[in-house]
Amino acid sequence: SAPLRLGIAGLGTVGIGVVKIIQKHADLVSVRCGRPVTITAVSARDRTRNRDADLSEFAWEADAVSLAQRDDVDLFVELIGGDAGVAKDSIEAALRAGKDVVTANKALLALHGQELAELAEAEGRVIRFEAAVAGGIPVIKALTESLAGNGINRVMGVMNGTCNYILTRMESAGLPYETVFEEARQLGYLEADPTLDVGGIDAGHKLAILAAIAFGTRVNFDAVEIEGIVRVSIDDIHRAEDMGYRIKLLGVAQMTARGLEQRMSPCLVPADSPLGQLNGGTNMVVIEGDSAGQIVLRGAGAGEGPTASAVMSDVIEIARGTRLPTFGRPAASLAAAQPARTAVP
Ligand code: NDP
Ligand code: HSE
Repeated sequence: SAPLRLGIAGLGTVGIGVVKIIQKHADLVSVRCGRPVTITAVSARDRTRNRDADLSEFAWEADAVSLAQRDDVDLFVELIGGDAGVAKDSIEAALRAGKDVVTANKALLALHGQELAELAEAEGRVIRFEAAVAGGIPVIKALTESLAGNGINRVMGVMNGTCNYILTRMESAGLPYETVFEEARQLGYLEADPTLDVGGIDAGHKLAILAAIAFGTRVNFDAVEIEGIVRVSIDDIHRAEDMGYRIKLLGVAQMTARGLEQRMSPCLVPADSPLGQLNGGTNMVVIEGDSAGQIVLRGAGAGEGPTASAVMSDVIEIARGTRLPTFGRPAASLAAAQPARTAVP
């Protein structure tokens, strides 16, 4: 069969991870898809940068929007990042040019997911984004596919690898914040703007996306109550430890009689609980379905391999011809999310 031809915009931690998987597993992917998956062209800012991968067989496009519109690209893979600008422009250009889109960009989906979902539907295209939430954990597919027969009561979990890495390394290795922050950077966990990580914003983006899928509402990131880990001190961590607890940046989304509640904040969890035992960049997402009961998903939440693995799951899904609606149902059917009003003390 005809190959699925990719254009990959963004050759950083995730983009290079995807290139490496396609090069390493070309045969495996081809067999699993029933057709080859190839890379036609790539794009990044700096063509001269050493990227630890052989890119010599791919055309280079200086401009991601041009890449998205190439006639020899069937699927546009956006791995640049950012909640607007070239990431948004190139995805819109790809959809309008009749290409499907795979992205890992939670910031963009949290802020513009509804309009992008509507555009994709109007153009008869799909947008997939497994990598946008919890790195290598297949949580989007769990909600949109495996648990599609359930009403969802609650989604919760630890969804930012950087914060979990910082909190646990400060506790277990007794290292200062600056040192563990630098380690997280070396591991490829950080957002281009790391204040999104430590400020809880990145995890808030992810929670808003999960809530939209789980509760059939439009993504409403503005309604997520967010507190990051910036004010958590090493003393706080040790005091929690003394009491048998650990501090986790924990997100909870649930539909209440007062509306949709979405909270992302540092919480005390028992040290011997599954959440309390999450170390490093590990994430955990707990989904409560009305038939399936509680489903717990745990795995690497960030970094090259796990995130590229999730991107590849979307590429393979599209190569196989599966065409799912963006948030698991038609965009027009997504209800406006009424934020829960918390009682004023
Ligand atoms: P990086 O910062 O490592 O890479 C970003 C890439 O985008 C770089 O190659 C950069 O080019 C390129 N780029 C920047 N501006 C442009 C532009 N105008 N046109 C073309 N390319 C451009 O980011 P990550 O790989 O870490 O993240 C990519 C996306 O994946 C983000 O949306 C992020 O939120 C998401 N993500 C990341 C995870 C992770 O663990 N890192 C996990 C889950 C999602 P150059 O190299 O030349 O500077
Ligand atoms: N910066 C993000 C994190 C990357 O640390 O979890 C994965 O989404």
